[in-house]
Amino acid sequence: MSEQSWISTPEEAEDFVRSYREQGKKVVFTNGCFDLLHVGHVRYLQQARDLGDALVIALNSDASVSELKGPNRPINSEEDRAELLRALSCVDRVVVFHEPRATRVIEIIKPQIYAKGGDYTPESLNAEEKAALSKVGAEIHILPLVPGKSTTSTLAKLKTPESGSKKLKIGILGSGKGSNFKAILENMKNPDYPVSVQVVISDQEEAGILKLAREANLPAFFVTPGDKPNRLGDAAQKEIAEHLKRHEVDLVVLAGFMKVLKTPVLELYKDRVVNIHPSLLPKYKGRNAWIQALEAGDSEAGCTVHFVNEEIDSGGILAQSVVPILKDDTEESLYARIQEAEHELYPRVLKELSEKL
Ligand code: GRF
Repeated sequence: MSEQSWISTPEEAEDFVRSYREQGKKVVFTNGCFDLLHVGHVRYLQQARDLGDALVIALNSDASVSELKGPNRPINSEEDRAELLRALSCVDRVVVFHEPRATRVIEIIKPQIYAKGGDYTPESLNAEEKAALSKVGAEIHILPLVPGKSTTSTLAKLKTPESGSKKLKIGILGSGKGSNFKAILENMKNPDYPVSVQVVISDQEEAGILKLAREANLPAFFVTPGDKPNRLGDAAQKEIAEHLKRHEVDLVVLAGFMKVLKTPVLELYKDRVVNIHPSLLPKYKGRNAWIQALEAGDSEAGCTVHFVNEEIDSGGILAQSVVPILKDDTEESLYARIQEAEHELYPRVLKELSEKL
């Protein structure tokens, strides 16, 4: 470690762990953003340190904090965050890592003990990090968070209406191209539009919606759906809930999300999950709804924004737009006009919800 720097390289931390190991001592490892250090962090780090003989922290770099938490974070630079952490008597080394996950650092440093705080369970830890921990033989310990002492609560105290805290914080879930998300983004260009997108999540790694989110510098996550085709497994349901909680989402907005959401999201966000569907519900639930309307010979189709419950396209209706079916309409031409209506309806309903929620 150079004299000015509070930051160790992964290789320096590896040497440190090795020397402890040779003395029959154990090094504890943890990772995180530690953007606004508070007493909850300090107590957690002290408890982590008490699990062994020394503590190494892998600190998310500025770029990876932005990727995880959004473009307005971090509040403090990686150098400042590292310096604060190193000033704590329970912290022995700080390594900065640049990816959203600490996998590579774990593999290099090979700690004997891994500590993680919070709402995690050994099952819900990130699969990649878990695999790296098992590869290096680290014991996993989950430590309780100190209630009420969090970065979120600190930030909430600092926020004033002028700083935009009154915006409705939404998390978007989508599986496709994301044109509805794009329409929301367009509205957000107006600083008075009262909605802020906190995170975008998809079950499709290559989904256009994730690409759009990354281009807009918003946190974007692919969640592996699980083994069963067309179903979202339990681990994925939990992972989605964690992303939403971590990004302080108030309302979950489905925009072309092709999987059925269950617990824990529907419990955590009871009456706070909405969807847009390309039909005048309750008519034509499920896939290709506008084709069903066309084939039935209806004179009008449209789109509906509704609350989401356990049954597909069945929750309470919030608003609808009617789209006339024209004589020469094809499946494509009708859907294109319905999507145009969606792009006007969904942002409008979200604005209305921001005043109610
Ligand atoms: C929309 O037509 C919506 O009604 C349906 O899925 C489609 C998503 O389209 N639930 P996009 O990804 O927003 O373009």
